[in-house]
Amino acid sequence: GETVHLTETDGCRTCTFGREPSEQGRLMRNICNLECRPDDIFILASPKSGTHWTWEIISMMINGRAETIPKPKIDNMLENQPHDSLAAIPNPRVLNSHLSIDWLPRQMLEKQCRIVFILRNPKDMAVSFYNHVKGIKSYHYQGQWKDFFPFILKGEMEYGSWFTYVREWERFIHDNPNYPIHLMFYEQLIKDYELELRRLATFLGLDLDSGLLAEIADKCRFHNMQKDKALPAELQKTLIKQNFSFFRKGKIGDWKNWFTVAQSEEFDRVYEENMKASSLTFQYN
Ligand code: A3P
Repeated sequence: GETVHLTETDGCRTCTFGREPSEQGRLMRNICNLECRPDDIFILASPKSGTHWTWEIISMMINGRAETIPKPKIDNMLENQPHDSLAAIPNPRVLNSHLSIDWLPRQMLEKQCRIVFILRNPKDMAVSFYNHVKGIKSYHYQGQWKDFFPFILKGEMEYGSWFTYVREWERFIHDNPNYPIHLMFYEQLIKDYELELRRLATFLGLDLDSGLLAEIADKCRFHNMQKDKALPAELQKTLIKQNFSFFRKGKIGDWKNWFTVAQSEEFDRVYEENMKASSLTFQYN
């Protein structure tokens, strides 16, 4: 089909950001041929796991300045930009994508580009995803949380199953113990912010003094990003509904305000089934 990997279901329609599905499909099929540079940094994560946050942090670290990045992370997103736009980004590029391994640039692995892989507990991810789909106009999603929930369990949503995606990367890490990939948990980032930033900088080979690191941490706090990274008024009007922001809540455990007890138990069962072989543990509080 034309929308290739991005599933189109009643649960969560593919958002093509105003593009024709065929144009999106062409972009997608071409990503595996993207030319990579040895110093490219890839932020990879399932949607709603903290990509905006991490992108802003890493970009500031690279710049060596705690100053808001004037462009949105979507400008560096593989599935949203043609190759020539990505090629125009100066080194080192901080790229990002939600795609699974098979769709990513072959050169990324060949050149051993650094990967920062973000994980977030899947209950909060699900709630965040639901609000995302409700808040962005071009999804045209009319359902309620209870309608969306089954699609999470079945993995019938944009980019496919969270379980499959996470397991695939876990296997990759297992099979490639020397690959430069850094795991970062959203919850850990919230709880031990400055230590996590220090670890991240070390992985990226950046020698940043603690003063600058603290300034970057502060600049990238939820409420500062909510204010500083607000969309331009025009885009705000066309892209999203009132009362939605990409910086929605930024908390651990919002899932408890959405999941019923029965839904939580059902989710736990499906999690067990899908993640039997996984050694990951997530924090839900
Ligand atoms: P919520 O919807 O739970 O608030 P992504 O950037 O991958 O789309 O992830 C979006 C989620 O990260 C949203 O979660 C968003 O609010 C949260 N987020 C964005 N910036 C953040 C920050 N600076 N601190 C904490 N959470 C942040």
